Amino acid sequence: MNRVMLTGVRPSGNLTLGNYLGAIKNFVDRQESYKSYIFIADLHAVTSYKEPNFLKESVYNCIAMYLACGVDENKTIIFKQSDVLEHGTFGFIMTFQTKMGELSRMTQFKAKSQGCGKEGVDTGLFVYPTLMVADILLYNTDIVPVGKDQQQHVELTRDLAERFNKRYGNTLNMPDVYVDVIGNKILNLQNPAEKMNKSDDGNNKGTIFLMDDLNVARKKIMSSVTDNYNKVHFDEDLQPGISNLMSILAKITGETFESIEKRYEGKGYGDFKKEVADVVCSLLENIQERFKKYNNKELLDKILFNGANDARIDASETLNRVRKSMGLN
Ligand code: TYM
Repeated sequence: MNRVMLTGVRPSGNLTLGNYLGAIKNFVDRQESYKSYIFIADLHAVTSYKEPNFLKESVYNCIAMYLACGVDENKTIIFKQSDVLEHGTFGFIMTFQTKMGELSRMTQFKAKSQGCGKEGVDTGLFVYPTLMVADILLYNTDIVPVGKDQQQHVELTRDLAERFNKRYGNTLNMPDVYVDVIGNKILNLQNPAEKMNKSDDGNNKGTIFLMDDLNVARKKIMSSVTDNYNKVHFDEDLQPGISNLMSILAKITGETFESIEKRYEGKGYGDFKKEVADVVCSLLENIQERFKKYNNKELLDKILFNGANDARIDASETLNRVRKSMGLN
């Protein structure tokens, strides 16, 4: 039987170079070796208010972007989370297997809820990981390619699968996280202490969007924050900005850090940044060219319709098994 790979992205704005290098590229590179599912986590997007038309457009944009990045609709099941109702029901069930303490310890929850006080925190933000647990377990997933920031959620998934199986008998498949050593946390170009996010505080100067105008993207890289060591060297603590650019270059080209360091021995940051900009711009140009082909709502609706039909078959089989194990059938 084929092993299963699954990942998802929240449609909450334009996709970034971080999304691509941390998750989508790893998925695309492996889609032929697995039974593959990629979905749009639109229920996760509405844990905070999204203007409905903005959300709809973001979903289309996100699927067209998956395809432009190389997800193959003939090899991968592409669907929208809210089209497969089993996600909601199973997410609800998995919330009951979870302790408040476990959810309180999630780093992403702690970071995002900072400053609201306990009273002001949306419960959606709090239970967000248990829906993610359901997303993964519904498809008997073996491997989940994600960036470093989502690793803890996949580890929670493993804990909950184990707890469920102990309580109710062997029902759920145990997934593994796949976080690549290179590019698992692409940093903000203006503030390398922060992750590159879909939105940042500095007019998005620190974030490369896959749809960025090439001149804008080039400018962002050329003006990225580095250091005074004047040495192209990988050291995430001492030289986070340069190490980030090295990760971007290495992840796209496959070159090792040692080889990059060697090539830039005795050279300044200007030449190095220019090469990173060239490589990133050529990647974006390619993606943007393909995006034009897929930016067609009729085509995307068809892909989503077929994807949801396929996904539903697998998800309902798991949910039926879960209900049977729990005595809910
Ligand atoms: P989201 O939409 O925040 O991010 C999508 C994917 O991109 C990765 N990522 C990054 N990787 C490296 N560097 C960065 N700067 C960077 N920014 C984002 C994320 O780690 C993620 O893999 N909860 C998830 C979506 C989700 C999901 C799932 C993923 C819902 N259910 C089930 C996998 C399996 C999220 O909000 O990702």
